Amino acid sequence: TAPVPLIAGNWKMNGDSASLGEALATAAGLGSTRVRVAICPSATLVSRMADALKATNVLVGGQDCRAEVSGAYTGDVAAEQLADAGAELVILGHSERRAGYGETDALVAAKTQAALRAGLEPIVCVGETLDERKAGKALEIVTGQVRGSLPAELAGKVFSVAYEPVWAIGTGLTPSTEEIVEVHRAIRQTLTSIFGAHGATVAILYGGSVKPSNAAEILHADEVGGALVGGASLKAADFLGIIAAV
Ligand code: G3H
Repeated sequence: TAPVPLIAGNWKMNGDSASLGEALATAAGLGSTRVRVAICPSATLVSRMADALKATNVLVGGQDCRAEVSGAYTGDVAAEQLADAGAELVILGHSERRAGYGETDALVAAKTQAALRAGLEPIVCVGETLDERKAGKALEIVTGQVRGSLPAELAGKVFSVAYEPVWAIGTGLTPSTEEIVEVHRAIRQTLTSIFGAHGATVAILYGGSVKPSNAAEILHADEVGGALVGGASLKAADFLGIIAAV
């Protein structure tokens, strides 16, 4: 069973209440239902966006969560709090968190367990740096991250893996389609070796400078089950252009 494609927008640290209009315009412009669409805004916006999109086909997600349920963790947000605010998904292990906050595979796995505990669908991010790619280590790094970041509790659960080459994020650069397919196939192999047949049902998203003009080629490539979109998810017209390319 091929996974249903997922197009997830990661607004990163952008947007405020005035931006809810873009989320509503995305929902209003959705023609087909064979694609799952999600927007992951800042934690401050999750509740309002979830309320605004309640009657639509657009899901709302968080961008990170803490592994613990509650406690003295100033500034952090628990998976349960995201779920309570109306989120249904959460991005975990984004390279901006791995690089900026020292998040390890083990921590990402713990956060993924927390997401499952709260009933959130995890989108677990992996990806190599430019130096790692130049050293011929992209597959080794990415499959190692997949093995280290996915807890056994994911067995039988709906989740996705997002392959985001760090050097392609926000740069306008993308790997060749062949390079994307090579990594996605390696991720698929790793998923089936960990989860057996269930591993074949997991959507593997590509992320990194996806825009309307390159979306069709990327999204139609073998083993690409959707996209994690940063900059081009902020404006409904661009995001809808990507969704239409599925
Ligand atoms: O999570 C999204 C990615 O980091 C991609 O960002 O589309 O702005 O390159 P981008």
